Amino acid sequence: MDKKLILIVEDDARVGESLRLLLKKKGYATLLANGGKEALQHFRQKPVDLVITDLVMPKMDGIEVLEAIKGAKPETEVIVISAQGTIEKAVQAMKLGAFDFIEKPINPRAISWLVERALEKQTLVLQNRDLRSRLEEKFHFKNIIGRSKEMIKVFELIRHIAPYDSSVLIVGESGTGKELIANAIHYHSPRATMPIIKVSCASLSEGIIESELFGHEKGAFTGAILSRKGRFELAHNGTLFLDEVEDIPPATQIKLLRVLQEGEFERAGGNKTLRVNIRIIAASNRDLQEEVKRGLFREDLFYRLNVVTIKLPPLRERRDDIPFLVNFFIDKYNRKYSLKVKGISQRAMNLFTDYEWSGNVRELENTLESILVVNNPHVIDIAHLPPEIRDFGEKPEVIPIRIGTSLEDVEREVLMQTLKATKGNKRKAAQLLGINVRTIHRKIEEFGGDDVTS
Ligand SMILES: Nc1ncnc2c1ncn2[C@@H]1O[C@H](COP(=O)(O)OP(=O)(O)OP(=O)(O)O)[C@@H](O)[C@H]1O
Ligand SMILES: [Mg+2]
Repeated sequence: MDKKLILIVEDDARVGESLRLLLKKKGYATLLANGGKEALQHFRQKPVDLVITDLVMPKMDGIEVLEAIKGAKPETEVIVISAQGTIEKAVQAMKLGAFDFIEKPINPRAISWLVERALEKQTLVLQNRDLRSRLEEKFHFKNIIGRSKEMIKVFELIRHIAPYDSSVLIVGESGTGKELIANAIHYHSPRATMPIIKVSCASLSEGIIESELFGHEKGAFTGAILSRKGRFELAHNGTLFLDEVEDIPPATQIKLLRVLQEGEFERAGGNKTLRVNIRIIAASNRDLQEEVKRGLFREDLFYRLNVVTIKLPPLRERRDDIPFLVNFFIDKYNRKYSLKVKGISQRAMNLFTDYEWSGNVRELENTLESILVVNNPHVIDIAHLPPEIRDFGEKPEVIPIRIGTSLEDVEREVLMQTLKATKGNKRKAAQLLGINVRTIHRKIEEFGGDDVTS
């Protein structure tokens, strides 16, 4: 490993030089500056790991050096040297983030020990940060699980577009995480401290959707006793999430288009034009372009919403994610219900991975929650899975029989195929057909001897 580089800032040349020699002997690389200005110059040009600075210096004192360094690169540790009568200043330095202080005259053992500890702490902090960001950013994105290359691409796209105000359209089947992604975009954007307001367009009837979106003035319609702010006003400076956007009625689509183009609208029954600053994220589980073609969704509105598209692949197209999701949800519901489910058997995990999750992540999550709550098993095994998952993939064998086949031939065919399936085991075949073995023997004879089984 490279030698750690320590910058010493000391206007007293004798003290500075002896400190430098000591640290050099201990195996560190050193730089010596005789004042704050020179120190900052070094700091800007070299990858300094640690700074040791005198507090009292003529032009720029140690506190200023500390502040400049912490401001530029907060992970740099700074040790300050205090002389008699400057303890107060040393304490102030600690408050500003100095690692520790040491008093003059400098004890070689004490300073060596301090330096070691400061560098150790720094390594830990950096390692930790590195690890955390690698895990969180790349795989978890806080609480969004996805290690498949499809999802990693989605995360990269989110990180890329989150800072801008452009509209985003999220498309994906039900339960693929559209709302989760909308939240992630908002919380990775500069609007994160402002609200994200959700509108479920499908659940609002045509009659009330406009007043929900744009608000209304007192007396705008029967029942409008008080004036009320709409979601657009509530989302001012934040994000408006239009869920199930394909369900916005045509008349409202026009008004929505106007807000997107001009940022302006009026409350229902009001004549004052209101202006808002909003980022729009829309979600749909239908192919909006198809809705446009069918004349159900305005094309101009579609283009306004669809500046950036995020396509969330269904779970069956990213099966790599399933084991991670399974463990994530076991963890989540263990915590939520104070349970101690240890995990899942490989056989059960295989069934989870093979299953066609038509309800996607939501269905997977609900299934696990239910297993944990209902069975509370030590380890999840096949017996705990709902039948449709347990039996999935076990395709029942079928016998194709043409219409018009005589009953006698049907009986013969069924018997023959069943014997084939049981590999000639007559007892088993009888069991499957619900008749006794003697009957089987008789029928075989009737149908022409043992050749039916060959
Ligand atoms: N990648 C993921 N990691 C962890 N949890 C997820 C992930 N994707 C979805 N979920 C969880 O699955 C559930 C459904 O997600 P969400 O509500 O975001 O889906 P949706 O696409 O909006 O569904 P719908 O179309 O039915 O509204 C939520 O509980 C969400 O937390
Ligand atoms: Mg949703």
